[in-house]
Amino acid sequence: MIIAIDGPAAAGKGTLARRLAQTLGLPYLDTGLLYRATAKRVLEAGGDPADAQAAAAAARELTEADTAREDLRDAATSRAASQVASIPAVRAALLAYQRGYGGGRGAVLDGRDIGTVIFPDADVKLFVTASVEARAKRRQAEFTARGERVNLAEVIAEVAARDEADRTRAAAPLIPAEDAILIDTTSLDADQAFSLALELVRRKLGRE
Ligand code: DC
Repeated sequence: MIIAIDGPAAAGKGTLARRLAQTLGLPYLDTGLLYRATAKRVLEAGGDPADAQAAAAAARELTEADTAREDLRDAATSRAASQVASIPAVRAALLAYQRGYGGGRGAVLDGRDIGTVIFPDADVKLFVTASVEARAKRRQAEFTARGERVNLAEVIAEVAARDEADRTRAAAPLIPAEDAILIDTTSLDADQAFSLALELVRRKLGRE
């Protein structure tokens, strides 16, 4: 069983995907980490994340240790991740790993193009979204929890810029699959979003 969870940054996809995976007994892959780890490799080698050759080489050389790093969520890595994610050769290099991950006993995967490109035949597709303000507040809370102080207006601008880049890129842009179920988490807390998603997944699977 493949459950594809797509949506913009900080919409609550990760928390939701992890909890669904736990409840359904499936492995969980946060595919954003693949792009973040690719970006980190390029940055640490002193390269340019917009350089297609350097970024694709980094994506091909990615190891589990790269994606397990704790320092992939800072602002510079997030920006660079968005840049490498717009390069078709990077996306191509990461495709087989994602398909292979879900190919065995199934998985919950979250990202931007899981339901549209990676697993167009996924059993369930959720598109999780929320207003820019709500998402920026959640991102700010994550920074605060890590002891980093950030200005809300700056986080809103950052989230909006990344949305725009992810939506308007030519390669696998962020768009809901035609058969995705939309979940707007603007006024839902994590528990409410999880209950709703689980109900939708059970209903969808029950119908088949
Ligand atoms: O979900 P995230 O914020 O960790 O993703 C980091 C970047 O990677 C983001 O700019 C979008 C991109 N991404 C992507 O293009 N496709 C995916 N399946 C997952 C992430």
